[in-house]
This record gives sequence, structure tokens and C-alpha cells, in this order.
Amino acid sequence: MSNNNQRVIVVDFGAQYGQLIARRVRDLHVYSELVPHDVNVQELRANPPAAIILSGGPASVYAEDAPALNPALLEMGVPVLGFCYGMQAMAQALGGEVAHTDIAEYGPAELTVLGNAVLTDAAPNSASHTSSHPTPHTASLLFCETPTTQTVWMSHRDSVGRLPKGFVATASTPTTPIAAMECASRKLYATQFHPEVHHTSYGNIMLAHFLFDVAKLEPNWTMSNIADATIAAVRKQVGTERVILGLSGGVDSSVVAALLAKAIGKQLTCVFVNHGLLRKGEPEEVEEIFAGANSNFDVDFVHVHAEEQFLAGLARIKEPERKRQIIGSTFWKVFFHEAEKIKQRTGEEVKYLAQGTIYPDVIESGVSRSGAVSAADGSAATGSKQAATIKSHHNLIPFPKGVHFDLIEPLRNLFKDEVRALGTSLGLPDSLVHRQPFPGPGLAVRIIGEVTFEKLQPLKDADAIVREEIDAYNETLFEQTGVRDSERAVWQYFAVLPDIRSVGVMGDERTYERPIILRAVESRDAMTADWARLPHELLARISSRIVAEVNGINRVAYDITSKPPGTIEWE
Ligand code: XMP
Repeated sequence: MSNNNQRVIVVDFGAQYGQLIARRVRDLHVYSELVPHDVNVQELRANPPAAIILSGGPASVYAEDAPALNPALLEMGVPVLGFCYGMQAMAQALGGEVAHTDIAEYGPAELTVLGNAVLTDAAPNSASHTSSHPTPHTASLLFCETPTTQTVWMSHRDSVGRLPKGFVATASTPTTPIAAMECASRKLYATQFHPEVHHTSYGNIMLAHFLFDVAKLEPNWTMSNIADATIAAVRKQVGTERVILGLSGGVDSSVVAALLAKAIGKQLTCVFVNHGLLRKGEPEEVEEIFAGANSNFDVDFVHVHAEEQFLAGLARIKEPERKRQIIGSTFWKVFFHEAEKIKQRTGEEVKYLAQGTIYPDVIESGVSRSGAVSAADGSAATGSKQAATIKSHHNLIPFPKGVHFDLIEPLRNLFKDEVRALGTSLGLPDSLVHRQPFPGPGLAVRIIGEVTFEKLQPLKDADAIVREEIDAYNETLFEQTGVRDSERAVWQYFAVLPDIRSVGVMGDERTYERPIILRAVESRDAMTADWARLPHELLARISSRIVAEVNGINRVAYDITSKPPGTIEWE
């Protein structure tokens, strides 16, 4: 198990991709989490991390509101690695100098590792430590097993002009003489470039050297350890109390269900609120997985058929936001009503509500709530206050008056692909674990205008064809590349039903029916997306199948809008 002493903290100075660093560390099987730049050092001392990484950030260290580096972090005796702003902040804190370079450096740069001249790591004399004459160094642990010249990714204007005492320069680029520096005896390392992005060819190797050779960590953050540790933490927190979980059929809540099933079995009730807006076959699949004859999970499973209640609430509603509100409020009404029934049925209070909050939710919301069980080490993760976009926590629950549950969020420290891997290790099928993103309000936001049963039916049928065909296409790409999320893989794909009709001809008959809009995008995180360049044969097959197999559809159009300016969904 990854205990607290085996954790690496990433001090966030507002890096655009702060969580990417933590991600990379975890890819090397070491637990890592983001902390704000003003993290409480007193508390850290009580439970010191095994290593510290200082992230980049958009500010200049000289800016008035620049996020400050607390020098105490460098004095803890814990190995530190700084990137970009993190390097400059380190240099400044230790008496070096940061200067504006004349030329900003953005994008790839050719790095030369300074290892040719043999020099000692002795304290420098100031004359030889100016930007034009950085002291080269022979064998930086960071650059071991990497070539003397290599490509790195730069994104900066300022850079370190004079090294702090005791430091040597270990690499340079044509525009940045001190592109990396270190004081090996104090285990302080820094790079002006970004090893965390994949454009830095040997970034992962550098990170691995820092974690395993400098910080002497063990690569023991593995799925089975995560599962074991989380199960133990949940058992400890829950004791003999009852837990309720709103199961949506999505990846996150399903993994929570699987995890809690292993941890507390029948003390858990999974409430699956079927709002009738799921994709074809999904409600049956969810029920089969958690309550079928061959289920791996021994939980109390309740399938609430609320399809009619949701449709009644949506009648005559056309405005997208209003639809979302109605679905959200109806969901919680149904859910809390069910919770009350469980109480009456079992005669026991339900103390906990489990939720599928994952780490990106925590980071995005900038909220840190303690008390929730987190993955693996039992400590609550701290949201980054520094990250640029703060949006309200989408998992906030509108408890009715007088109702309260304590929260359990066992996935709170996990990234999405870790959640998927955990799901697989717990025995969930691939079809669920690799499910594409699906909005909470479901197909309601893919039917333009009023949602009715008559519109839902053709949309579900058309969507099933889209999924079948593009799933197969993705599978072929997977076989070819060995990567599930290869750059060409289609990330999200679905059918949309607009509120219009058009004329067509089928057989000898004139038709006046609805079109289906096909939406298929490539994306990594849904923040931006590009429309997928699907092969024409695939588009042709989807189109002819939909028109031939789905009643009420006579045309298929393909949406070729990227995000921005479009969004992925149509509503
Ligand atoms: P947009 O349409 O904003 O979608 O580009 C970005 C991603 O978020 C998903 N999405 C939602 N997810 N509730 C959700 O849980 C929603 O109301 C919602 N709206 C959009 C969408 O499917 C895409 O992956």
C-alpha cells in the first residue's frame, strides 16, 4: 500500500496543466497529489512527503501578486524538483537571480546536457556563475540515460540568470544558458523546461530518476494496492452503518458501487434511478451487472422505474437549462423518497451517502472537504486553489430540509483512467468501464425541444447504431495501435434529434420525417474537441443503417464543428 510517506506533493503555482505532473508521477506508480502554493508547512512537517515537485506557473517571480514559494519547503530535507516557474522560485528563494531573457522561448528547444567538462559540485564563485558562463556538471542523476542533445518543451520568458550558492548548471539551450540546475548534496533539482509534457522526449526518464534515484521511492502505487487500501479505509469509516449510493450507470458511480460492494456488501443499497433517458440497453446492463444471476457483487440493488415521472415533468419544456433543472430536481426527489423507503424497510437509519466524485472534480471545484474517505492513504486530497478555472462542484447535493447524510467519496483522489483501471480490477466489464462520457440529463439534451416518448424511441435506436459502428471502428484502431485512447480514437459519439422535418423519398413514397445528426469528436478532456475525421465508408454505413433501420428517420447529417466554437452536446 502507498502510505503517506510514499507520497509526492506537487506544489501548484497556477500551472495550466498542474494535474498533469501528478498524473505523470502516478504513471510511474508513485502516489502524488496537488497542493496549493501556500500549503501549511507546519502540517506538512508532521506528515512529510517523500518528495516535492514545484510546478510551473504563468506569473513572473517579480510580479506583485506572484504566488510565493515558502523557502521552508526547501529546508525540509525532502528532495525537491522545480519546473519552469518552480525553478525560478527556487533560485530566487536561495539567493540566485532570475532575469528576463531577451527572447521568449515557446515550444520545442534543443537542450544540451552539460556533462563534457569535468567539474566539481563545489560552491561556486560568483564570477563563474553568470548566465553566459554557467558551470557545467558531469553526471546529473536527472539526465542519466538520456542523450547529450535532446528535445525539450519550453514555455517561458524569465529564466535563472545567476545560480544560487552550491548549485551547478546541468543543461542549456541556445537561448537559456541555465536550462537546468541542481545542488545534488541538498537534493534540489530544477529544469526550466517541462518534463511533464510528452514533447519533452526524455521527460519521463528524468522524472523517474528523480523519484527512484534521488528520492529513493518505491513504485508501489498499483491498482491492487489502491483497491485494498480504499476498501480498508471505507470499512474503517463505515463500521456497521448503512450506506446509500445513487447509481447512474456511468463509470464513476459504478466503480464506487463495485468498491463498496467488496468493502461492505449488503450494508450498501444501490439506488438506480431509471429516468428513461439512458441509452438503449443500458438499464438492463446495469441491473445485470449488479443484480443479475451471475453478478460479482452482493449488494442490495433497487431499480426505480421513474421513466414516466421524468417524462411528465419534461412535458412541454423546450428550454435546455430548464430541462436540466427539472431532471436534476426530479432525480433527487426520487432518490430521497427511495432513501426513506429503505429506512422503513430495514428499520435502520442510513448514515452515509456515497458519491463518485473523482480527483479532477476536486481540483476543478477548488474545494477541500475533510472527513471524506479518499483513496489509498485515507487522507483527504486538497483541491488546488491556484488552478485557473474554478467551477462550482457539480456533485453538490440538494439535501431536503431535515435530511442529512455524511459523504463517502472513495474515488476522490483518483484520475479518470485510474478509476477505470480500478473498475476492471474489481471485476466490472469493459463495456461499462470504457463507457464514453454521457451527460447526467442523458438523452434529454440530445433531443432539441420537447422530450417525448415518440422522440426518445428513434433517438435510442439511431444512437445504438452509431455506438455499434464507432465502437467497432475504435476497436480496430485499438488492435492496430495497442492504445485505447490513441489520437485517432473517437472520444465521444452519439446521435442528436433536432426539432425539424424534411422531405425525402423512400421506395416510391415521399417522406416527411426527422433527420438524425451524427456527432463524433476527438478530445482528451472535453474542454476542447475536434470533429472526428471518420472514414467515408464508415459514415456511409452509419447513414444507410439509420435510415433503413430506424422508423421515422429519413436523413443523416454530420456535425463538422469543433469546440470551440461549438460545444460537444447540442444543448
Ligand atoms: P459540452 O457540451 O459542454 O460537453 O462541450 C462537455 C462534456 O460534458 C458532458 N456534459 C455533461 N455531463 N451533465 C454531465 O454530467 C451535463 O449536464 C452535461 N452536459 C455536457 C458532455 O457529454 C461532454 O462530454
